[in-house]
Amino acid sequence: MSTPAPQDRQVPEDRKDSMADSAATPPAATDAVAAKRGPSVATRERRQGSINPSGETPYLVVEDLAVKFPTADGLVSAVNGLSYSVPLGRTLAIVGESGSGKSVSSMAVMGLHDRKRTRITGSIRLGGDEMIGLSENDLMKIRGDAVSMVFQDPQSSLHPLYTIGNQLVEGYRVHHKVSKDAAKKRALEMLDLVGIPNPQRRFGQYPHEFSGGMRQRAMIAMSLINDPKLVIADEPTTALDVTVQAQILDLLNNLQKEFGSAIVLITHDLGVVAEMADDVLVMYAGRCVEYGTAEDVLANPRMPYTWGLLESIPTVSAANERLRPITGLPPSLLNLPSGCSFRPRCPYVDRVKGELCSTELPELLPVDGAGAHVSRCHLHDKASIYEAEVAPRLG
Ligand SMILES: Nc1ncnc2c1ncn2[C@@H]1O[C@H](COP(=O)(O)OP(=O)(O)OP(=O)(O)O)[C@@H](O)[C@H]1O
Ligand code: SF4
Ligand SMILES: [Mg+2]
Repeated sequence: MSTPAPQDRQVPEDRKDSMADSAATPPAATDAVAAKRGPSVATRERRQGSINPSGETPYLVVEDLAVKFPTADGLVSAVNGLSYSVPLGRTLAIVGESGSGKSVSSMAVMGLHDRKRTRITGSIRLGGDEMIGLSENDLMKIRGDAVSMVFQDPQSSLHPLYTIGNQLVEGYRVHHKVSKDAAKKRALEMLDLVGIPNPQRRFGQYPHEFSGGMRQRAMIAMSLINDPKLVIADEPTTALDVTVQAQILDLLNNLQKEFGSAIVLITHDLGVVAEMADDVLVMYAGRCVEYGTAEDVLANPRMPYTWGLLESIPTVSAANERLRPITGLPPSLLNLPSGCSFRPRCPYVDRVKGELCSTELPELLPVDGAGAHVSRCHLHDKASIYEAEVAPRLG
């Protein structure tokens, strides 16, 4: 999967206007100043629309998505103002700590949330069609056909009492009016394609007769059997050992080349991101805090939380040095702190003048004032801090 050179990327006209608009707006120190300055951050984010690092026509467009769960303890704001887009043939990696909203946002794209217990606002468009508000019947037609999901734990999506072959055949026939024989032929092709040896024999076996890696391959076969345009892979390799992980990632990569699907890859693992992603979106406490091409975000990160993530992974060159974990815990989503959600854990908070970090949520603004790499932080000299202090530690 290729990351286009910066000069190859084109920013759509509507995005140029909105970026220029938001880049020209200086941060405000107080509510009074903010009131004078005009619309709220949320309003500007809505206007800004979905960010599109590659500039290619997107297949999936998520705009200003919010997912909230009313609970006995209060309203859990799991996802807030999330916008991104993914063109066909491209892979977006969503990264962030546990609880940052990666799965909740992706389940919203799949329409998998319990409608009665979840408040979802914003827009999710697939190939131009709005998904939010569709009936369960319409969503079922789309799920497994235009869009499918690979979960971390194949046990949870493979039925233990049906053979793998049976599940593949049924998965195919739900969306295609074909004979059982034709569906079996397709299922055997898929088992072969995902590298399961002896598909004829494996076709009649139950999930418990497969190893973990084989089950994951079977689930990928199931996800791709209907040739979906969008695949959401939620930690698809976390439960597997390192060798099998690499094989599964290679498989996803090759299948993407064959099917040309858009992939949203959810992972904790920045090694996987570097290997697989064209674009990267970093989430913290339900919000996007940095977003751009993998090249931009990994080589020139511009947000202290992203720096923390990068510093907390082992590198070959820094093998003998101690890792620098991000200290502290993410905030409660029941009661997000005012200002920047990362403030209680941020080592750079003192570099911002006054109380800005604790009073005002930073906007998602273009890095260096232009381009489609955006980050959410009040620091003025992000580039120089990164070059002078963070990059040397990364080795
Ligand atoms: N049905 C629900 N009701 C209330 N809170 C929920 C519900 N589902 C998820 N949450 C909360 O939403 C937050 C985001 O959860 P999510 O599963 O998206 O995290 P994640 O980023 O995928 O984490 P992980 O890396 O551990 O999978 C968590 O705090 C979680 O407890
Ligand atoms: S806005 Fe302030 S607290 Fe938040 S990441 Fe930037 S410097 Fe740290
Ligand atoms: Mg998750």
